[in-house]
Amino acid sequence: MGKMRVSSTFVAIIFMVNYLVGCTNNNEVYNNVEEIKIGVTVYKEDDKFISTITNNILELAKKKEKEENVKITIDILDAKENLANQCNQVDKFILNNYDVICVNIVDRTSAATIIDKAKSSNTPIIFFNREPVEEDMRRWKDVYYVGAEAEKSGELQGSLIIDKYTSDKSEIDKNGDGKIQYVMLEGEHGHQDTAIRTEYSIKTIVQNGIEVEKLADDTANWEFAQAKSKMTGWIKEFGSEIEVVFSNNDDMALGAIEALKEAEINNVIVVGVDGVTEALEAVKNDEMLGTVISNSIAQAEGIFNIAYSKATNGDLSDVEGLEGKYIKTKHIKIDKNNVDVYLK
Ligand code: GAL
Ligand code: CA
Repeated sequence: MGKMRVSSTFVAIIFMVNYLVGCTNNNEVYNNVEEIKIGVTVYKEDDKFISTITNNILELAKKKEKEENVKITIDILDAKENLANQCNQVDKFILNNYDVICVNIVDRTSAATIIDKAKSSNTPIIFFNREPVEEDMRRWKDVYYVGAEAEKSGELQGSLIIDKYTSDKSEIDKNGDGKIQYVMLEGEHGHQDTAIRTEYSIKTIVQNGIEVEKLADDTANWEFAQAKSKMTGWIKEFGSEIEVVFSNNDDMALGAIEALKEAEINNVIVVGVDGVTEALEAVKNDEMLGTVISNSIAQAEGIFNIAYSKATNGDLSDVEGLEGKYIKTKHIKIDKNNVDVYLK
């Protein structure tokens, strides 16, 4: 019995020491972490904008490894647009004791199952770019979202057209009827950015007293090839009536530009969103009027900073831009005047 008492006292002391170290000296706990593992699953690996975010995360991890002398493993898996795949990938991360899971969810209305998996294994989870509904975000405390202010991207896209209309009206309103005849290439339906960008770009223009007339709109699911084929159809249908192509993202805008080139049309104004390199080049070459940069570096930083803090000392107070569970990054409007600054 005596022995038992001694050993349980000993255990209690060890416990106390650990507890005190944990409470009073965060650095010590933090420095003791030798390896962290972050699992990332994306809805589709060959989405241009998403791969800029994941590449930036890898860069940040490399830098941090050197600075902090900690091994950082980042595994990026492709859900191939299939939610069941994505759930399996999350299971795999949990089974292999990943410290944090980052999810670019296939279907943003179906986050509950994934959140519940994270909750029951106590693995913090960061959604990015495809925003779960608020009700799901409230299912557990350690759920975060990193994305962009979608309304602003639409407003800035609209303001590119307002600027052009103000400075060179006849270059937009080619038929001189005082209205802008346009087509709208939409992203995936159900994606928060699709509905919001579509609404805010047009609303901004109309609120500035410029009349618009929609000739056609349709989804091209964020994709170059689908957009090119939609645009080819619209060129056949509307010909020179089309004055402006609004595109919910750059890759579709580039697809539309390709269709216009093939049809040998060079006086249609095209605007996008994202700020991918190919689009910035198109702005520089006068193929595209402008785009709106969605800050993929700031988004990657937000994701990585939350993940790193959660995996090490758990303290999120230093994470820049975090408001509650959300980080929403700002946009930058790009046209010929400032494109050079951002092409570098
Ligand atoms: C949007 C972006 C698109 C596409 C999509 C994927 O924010 O503008 O290009 O990447 O996210 O969810
Ligand atoms: Ca017109």
